[in-house]
Amino acid sequence: MVGRLTKISATSCQSSASPLGILRPRDSDLEVLDLGCGGGFMSEALARRGACVTGIDPCIASLEAARKHAQSQDLAIVYHEGVGENIPLDNHSVDRVVCVDVLEHVQDLEKVIEIRRVLRPYGILFFDTINRNRLSRLLAVTVLESVLKIVPCGAHDPDKFIRPMEMQRHLQRNGFAVEPDTFVGMGPIGVNRRLDFVFGLSPVTWIMYLGYAIAN
Ligand SMILES: C[S@@+](CC[C@H](N)C(=O)[O-])C[C@H]1O[C@@H](n2cnc3c(N)ncnc32)[C@H](O)[C@@H]1O
Repeated sequence: MVGRLTKISATSCQSSASPLGILRPRDSDLEVLDLGCGGGFMSEALARRGACVTGIDPCIASLEAARKHAQSQDLAIVYHEGVGENIPLDNHSVDRVVCVDVLEHVQDLEKVIEIRRVLRPYGILFFDTINRNRLSRLLAVTVLESVLKIVPCGAHDPDKFIRPMEMQRHLQRNGFAVEPDTFVGMGPIGVNRRLDFVFGLSPVTWIMYLGYAIAN
């Protein structure tokens, strides 16, 4: 979903169940890949926490905007054009990979095993994505795209949404350890003054979920 819709509530950002939660102060010089970085929303948040961030995205316009914004904030983030199916980084070169609202857009989830290749042993992948069922389709496609029109029409292909069990199996098949029940639900928890949805942690994974996996 588009950046402004995915503002996780301040409380949930402090928890370990958020991309920022994978960076504790003592980890502050970790090398982090923000895969599908878009305009650099998460890259900047991670860089502000002291991580050495590389952002990768196929969209050149987003990368240009991200570079300009990082420069204006005095943040040393490296941005490259690329896709998750063929990551332009060396083997075992990063400590963390973050995929925020990306996995449901990739052409071939199987090839995103590339993430495992670039992670160092015991490195961590953190992701969020959209579950595949009628409710998530209703919210992500019908409500956000067709009714409210706050996400461009066609932004989501509901066939690419991923059920938590599929995600867990995919990760385990591809060299990650995933603890059972570590995926955490996420969804709309209210609206703000500008009438944008505010997303936060939810007790169920029906719509969206967050998770992490550790490289074996
Ligand atoms: C909904 S946006 C999320 C952007 C950013 N992660 C954020 O949270 O603001 C999805 C991003 O995934 C990127 N994307 C699409 N297909 C991709 C792929 N195969 N590999 C990596 N990124 C991809 C898009 O260009 C887009 O920037």
